[in-house]
Amino acid sequence: MRTIQIEDFDDWRAKARKLIGNQVPPSEVQLFDRDGQQSLFGDPSDLDEASGATFRVSREFVSLAQAVGYHRDFNRWNLLYRTLWRIKTDQPHLLEIETDPDVHRLIQMEKQVRRDAHKMKAFVRFRKVERDEKEYFIAWHQPDHRIVRRVAPFFSRRFKGMNWAILTPDESVTWDQSELHFGPGVTRSDAPGFDELEDLWRTYYANIFNPARVKVKMMKSEMPVRYWKNLPEADIIADLLTDAPKRVEEMIQQHEGFEQTAINFIKPTEGESFTLATLKEMAIECTACDLCRDATQTVFGTGPVEAKIVLLGEQPGDQEDIAGVPFVGPAGKVLNEAIDNAGLDRDKLYLTNVVKHFKHIETNTEGIPNGKRRLHQKPNAREVRCCRPWFDAEWSCLEDAEFLVCLGETAARAILGPGNKISEVRGRLLSTDYCAKTIVTWHPAAILRSPRESHRQEKMRELIKDLALAGV
Ligand code: URA
Repeated sequence: MRTIQIEDFDDWRAKARKLIGNQVPPSEVQLFDRDGQQSLFGDPSDLDEASGATFRVSREFVSLAQAVGYHRDFNRWNLLYRTLWRIKTDQPHLLEIETDPDVHRLIQMEKQVRRDAHKMKAFVRFRKVERDEKEYFIAWHQPDHRIVRRVAPFFSRRFKGMNWAILTPDESVTWDQSELHFGPGVTRSDAPGFDELEDLWRTYYANIFNPARVKVKMMKSEMPVRYWKNLPEADIIADLLTDAPKRVEEMIQQHEGFEQTAINFIKPTEGESFTLATLKEMAIECTACDLCRDATQTVFGTGPVEAKIVLLGEQPGDQEDIAGVPFVGPAGKVLNEAIDNAGLDRDKLYLTNVVKHFKHIETNTEGIPNGKRRLHQKPNAREVRCCRPWFDAEWSCLEDAEFLVCLGETAARAILGPGNKISEVRGRLLSTDYCAKTIVTWHPAAILRSPRESHRQEKMRELIKDLALAGV
């Protein structure tokens, strides 16, 4: 039996290529993480280098294997190798058999990694510290899987012009506005190189500590007490709590505060896990942006947690605002028709919106403000950003979701990023940070608004076609 150490996915790929090329069956090899339990490492250096050279695997398998490589499961490299072996020897279409135990497990693992990566993107909270007239943004996060390297490029793109660090127990990553640097996980004992960061963190924590929001129970659930001992700020928490009332008074005087987003209303319970029902409860209270002032209520998503298809709209309309349920007004009727024609069952879909409050102005029948009619207004970028944590949290609950359908431009931009035009992305199957199968299609309201019948019919046909794609 060979025992081989694996560093990461690229290393696994190179070694698996060699092993397969040399026809080493999975029963004769054990592949372990660098920091796995095995202490004796082998290297397939005795194998013929050239035999793997012509080796080809499908893009689908590579993408699956890449994701699974970030999973914490100790046995993942062996499982991947066994699957690859089976594909290469006698089952070229193995990945299509989702009931096969190996394939099933790999798909599950891929989903778990995607979810975890998504949670990291959604819930990492940077806090600002200033030092030597420079700003740093530091976040602590505890992912379920070893996803730091998978997710770090996302943060470098999104926060390109900032110096930031994300600290996790597995490893840490810093960005200096040009390169990512990976370092050890953060615990006191093994992080001498992090002294400065620890200082920064402590300074930061004292700076950002918002005494007006102190909730000791929540602090404990967000940052479980068992980790406090490892965290630089732990020894100042007690002092800060003692000073809290005075600081609140000062803050009120100085109008200090942070940009609110819905994240402040998402209060993790045990171990940061939510359910759709608890999220919906929390969302009732959301006052993160001004839209809550004129809306009747928060309109949260609806549908079964096991939904495979998720439909994302823009924001509730007039009737949704009153009913408290998405897509029950005129646009909802068009959507229902399209759903039926696409052969889908609305009861099996999860329907939600990017923004959870109805944005509108009140006009008279001539469109003059201050009347009784409530005229829909498009949410702005700040409102979308502010509300996004709700969708992020919903999405992290929808573990079986396989297809994300963005209805209209607001949803498309929220998921794909700004600048995406419906006319350019509609109807194409896209892989996004949220979902490997994402599709953008017409918003049903755009169909209603189209001035010409022929345009309405054409858009409806396209909406049905795009929805049907999600159903296959
Ligand atoms: N339009 C939307 O985007 N969502 C709704 O829920 C209703 C209309």
